[in-house]
Amino acid sequence: MRLIITEHYNDMCRKAASIMASQITLKPDSVLGLATGATPVGIYEQLTAWYQNGELDFSQITTVNLDEYYGLAPDNEQSYHYFMTEHLFSKVNLPKGRQFLPDGKNLDTDRECERYQNLIRLLGGIDMQLLGLGHNGHIGFNEPSDAFVKEVHLVKLAEQTIEANKRFFARAEDVPRKAYTMGIGTIFQAKKILLAVSGAQKAKILKQVMYGPICPQVPGTILQLHSDVTVVADREAAEEIEAEI
Ligand code: F6R
Repeated sequence: MRLIITEHYNDMCRKAASIMASQITLKPDSVLGLATGATPVGIYEQLTAWYQNGELDFSQITTVNLDEYYGLAPDNEQSYHYFMTEHLFSKVNLPKGRQFLPDGKNLDTDRECERYQNLIRLLGGIDMQLLGLGHNGHIGFNEPSDAFVKEVHLVKLAEQTIEANKRFFARAEDVPRKAYTMGIGTIFQAKKILLAVSGAQKAKILKQVMYGPICPQVPGTILQLHSDVTVVADREAAEEIEAEI
């Protein structure tokens, strides 16, 4: 795992965006795996700025998102679909037919998981997967558990995740309890992985993810086995690691 430490959140976003921009420039028809949440907001802002000043072209790019809340339609303001439209899809020239997320409104779980897993396979896999890191070490919505789940699946969200994500909802009761997510194997088949982490509250878990024992109780630890992972962290997120260097 490569670790790039930046000063603040904004620098972290610019660095992560520049890695994604290189991917887009070198392979204009890349399949990009995308994430939602607070961390990538600044990354999408930077990519949008580079698109707007003519430095980036998304016209041949395809995107597949990590996850979507179960039961939420794309036009629901809390859905990840809506988030992506707001922060990226509506701002760059990414073709509408090439923006993919799990369909939260498809309540036929087996069918939806199979459809999304097959879709990623048919696209030829993911060239670069952007990840954030959950406070409990989750990647996508692969929550701490006794085993790594390989493919796209429906997951019951951990209490800690519901707690962390309630900031995006009017009331904690509104946070959906389930979500579709890429599995660890789905994420792992990405050729390159970019993990973006910000803030002191992620410092302990980031150190564990990078250097702790590999176990499904801390799902992000599996990234230690991938051959091409770049971690971009701001100084606060890297403080536990830096303390030992
Ligand atoms: C989002 C996702 C999650 C988040 C993680 C961190 O699509 O898959 O794993 O990346 O929960 O979220 P933030 O960035 O809000 O701290």
